[in-house]
Amino acid sequence: MIWQGLDIASALQKALSGYKPESVFILCSEGSLFHARKTLEDAYPIFIRRQFFVVPDGEKAKSLKTAEDIWTWLAEENCKRDALLINIGGGAVCDVGGFCASNFMRGIKFWNIPSTLLAMVDASVGGKTGINLNGFKNYIGSFAKPSQVFINPQFIRTQSADELLSGWAEVIKHGLIDGGALWNRVNEGMPETKDSAAWLEIIVQNNAIKARIVDQDFTELGVRKLLNLGHTLGHALESMSLENSDINEPISHGRAIAWGLLLETELSVALKICEKEVLQHLKSLIEPLYEKIIFTSQQVDNMLLWIKGDKKNTVDEVRLSLIRKVGDCVYDVSTDILQVKQIFLRHASH
Ligand SMILES: NC(=O)c1ccc[n+]([C@@H]2O[C@H](COP(=O)([O-])OP(=O)(O)OC[C@H]3O[C@@H](n4cnc5c(N)ncnc54)[C@H](O)[C@@H]3O)[C@@H](O)[C@H]2O)c1
Repeated sequence: MIWQGLDIASALQKALSGYKPESVFILCSEGSLFHARKTLEDAYPIFIRRQFFVVPDGEKAKSLKTAEDIWTWLAEENCKRDALLINIGGGAVCDVGGFCASNFMRGIKFWNIPSTLLAMVDASVGGKTGINLNGFKNYIGSFAKPSQVFINPQFIRTQSADELLSGWAEVIKHGLIDGGALWNRVNEGMPETKDSAAWLEIIVQNNAIKARIVDQDFTELGVRKLLNLGHTLGHALESMSLENSDINEPISHGRAIAWGLLLETELSVALKICEKEVLQHLKSLIEPLYEKIIFTSQQVDNMLLWIKGDKKNTVDEVRLSLIRKVGDCVYDVSTDILQVKQIFLRHASH
């Protein structure tokens, strides 16, 4: 069940009323601790006495080490199979928390309370959980649905502009796939952060699109692959930046996805399945908001290796979700890796 609204305290109070405090475990990150404490304090003060397990911010949370720490904490706190794990945070907390819950004692219940836009419009809904392995994003994971999701757009007021843009990229993606009212709304630009009512409307539209696709194909054997639009090239850009994160600041997930959407649309045009006008339109939405991602031609081969290693591909075939036109995307398009290389090389700095 997904609850989306502005009075999260009442919704949570009702939902938690059947639980004993000792059977509820709360996971958050350093960046979401404030919201986690405040939300539970407002909703159900008795739970504030529960210990919060705080994972590191960002991708560091999605490691085997953090998963082991969470499992150890649950075991030491005497967590039983009828317990509930509440994940309050961004996509990283929802991903690692869902993964840990779905495997602890073969699975305990979990709820997601997303505190970033990206988590509200993507990571907390749809039932994918995961952690990274050896630099590969989400390589270990499970399909496991949270029993409840509580979405309160007011949380995004404390997000940085960069983090907000991260979530907006996924909203653009969902709008592009659907081509209906959300796409029209995306073309009007982002609302003010404080305009929670406008955000709520966008989130509700967005999650209806995602749910419609996920409900047809939960384990991603077919149509759900459409939701990977922008992600094959985007993840390669993101992995490249994570690999060099000791030299440069890693790029945000959303910036990688925004540029992934652009480059994959460019590829769709090169493959003659999409009109140039679609690319121009998308450029006008993405380029003013998302700083260009700098990489060199030497890094391109490495990015191709990331793509070949992407779990969506067999070793010698690159299969992508691509766009034909707004509201008409296709999945499993078999593509020559050299054509992908051409697109990356066009954008290399030198
Ligand atoms: N499971 C899925 O279906 C799915 C879908 C999309 C993305 N993801 C994953 O989601 C992750 C990205 O999620 P994200 O963009 O939320 O990043 P994140 O979870 O890393 O959070 C970004 C930062 O914001 C902080 N934060 C959280 N809430 C905040 C708030 N309200 N105000 C201020 N700071 C806050 C966090 O502590 C963190 O430092 C990636 O790992 C990606 O792979 C998963």
